[in-house]
Amino acid sequence: MTGGRLTGVDAEREAQLLFRVIGTISAGLDLHRMLQGVATLVTETTETDVCFVHLLDEKGRVLRLHGATPPFDVLVGEIELALGEGVAGWVAEHGEPVVIFDDKAADPRYRYIPALRGEEFTSMLSVPIVTPLGHLVGVLNVHTRARREFTGADVELLRSVAGLVAGAIENARLHRRLAEREEALESFAERIVEWQERESRRLAGEIHDGISQRIVSLFFHLSAAADAIAAEPADPAVAAEQVGRAQELAAAALDEARLAIAGLRPPVLDDLGLAASLESLGRSFPGLDIRVEADDLQMPGHVETAVYRTAQEALQNVAKHAGAESVRIRLSRHAGRAVLEVSDDGTGFDPGTLRRPAGDALPPTGLGLAGMRERAELLGGTLELTSAPGRGTTVRLAVPFTHHGQPGPGPALPGTPGWPARRPR
Ligand SMILES: Nc1ncnc2c1ncn2[C@@H]1O[C@H](COP(=O)(O)OP(=O)(O)OP(=O)(O)O)[C@@H](O)[C@H]1O
Ligand SMILES: [Mg+2]
Repeated sequence: MTGGRLTGVDAEREAQLLFRVIGTISAGLDLHRMLQGVATLVTETTETDVCFVHLLDEKGRVLRLHGATPPFDVLVGEIELALGEGVAGWVAEHGEPVVIFDDKAADPRYRYIPALRGEEFTSMLSVPIVTPLGHLVGVLNVHTRARREFTGADVELLRSVAGLVAGAIENARLHRRLAEREEALESFAERIVEWQERESRRLAGEIHDGISQRIVSLFFHLSAAADAIAAEPADPAVAAEQVGRAQELAAAALDEARLAIAGLRPPVLDDLGLAASLESLGRSFPGLDIRVEADDLQMPGHVETAVYRTAQEALQNVAKHAGAESVRIRLSRHAGRAVLEVSDDGTGFDPGTLRRPAGDALPPTGLGLAGMRERAELLGGTLELTSAPGRGTTVRLAVPFTHHGQPGPGPALPGTPGWPARRPR
């Protein structure tokens, strides 16, 4: 069914093609089936022999075949062209249509791809797929076996089809992105709930096993002191001894309460602020030469906690595993992100060995790196680990920067905002 001239086709036929294209793209199909439908429809209605729909990948560098008239539909996903490569690549790069009547091989823009069997086709027309806002999303090509004089009207009709398809592709991509985001939010909410439950269990354990036990003993010592005072004759020595024990227990309970709270938010952050807390953290590893360069970024409390905990775990790892002499801690603002880097000059390791395949029977690796990564992701940030045997290790945390008082970058982790400053002992 070759040879028909699109221009000769009356306006009614053109309207019918556009109408059917609209029907196909609004049928709620997934992107793949929609493009397949469009390719077949275009071939039928324009009386060409084959139609290829190439889409630009999300990075805008590669054109990939996403729809084709059978039997070429089996090649979907298999054919890739770089921007500028072949006629489709040229059209994508220049945003202009190309018409070739015959002798494609003589055209410097043409590239022969055996699977597409270009030798069977004589004439071709290629148009960019551009959204109404001018974003290029791909390229639409039609080919005919017999020679065909594609006209300006043919080009315009195919451009109209491409315009309709462009909007639908953008919508489909937007829809997919939204669905992915929704999934990510769901898993985020799940992790927050898990985290809250874990923290509640930890706090309950610490209060039950530590703090409550001490308060019960404290109560008995105070009762014994009261009895000693009320006795006839009163025994001040026993009373004083019992009160002394009660004081020790009160101090211990206070320490345990502080530790339990520190699990939520390190008190040092309230006392000194993040930058000075990192410096103080650096001084708490006496065997290491630790240099700290931290800008005073004034971020929301939960972000500061995440940064501090990451630095703490990274330093603990250096002390435990690296055999390093010196460490450098840097905190600064860079391209809208707060960036923490902890670099050591120690033994380094191969991070690839930490990623064990699912179902592997080996015991899991430590929790430190996984915890750091989880904290980063919860804040919409990233954690990068750069290390190689003999070359030291760098841990780099980057989280969206927000100023204290601004809404945080993602839901605030449960913490202890407004918890009273440390009480004097
Ligand atoms: N700075 C570092 N230098 C050398 N090796 C490191 C360093 N940081 C991490 N590693 C390696 O990565 C592994 C995983 O670290 P991770 O913090 O997850 O676990 P861990 O420190 O072994 O245990 P945990 O943190 O749960 O107490 C470590 O066991 C160690 O082999
Ligand atoms: Mg660790």
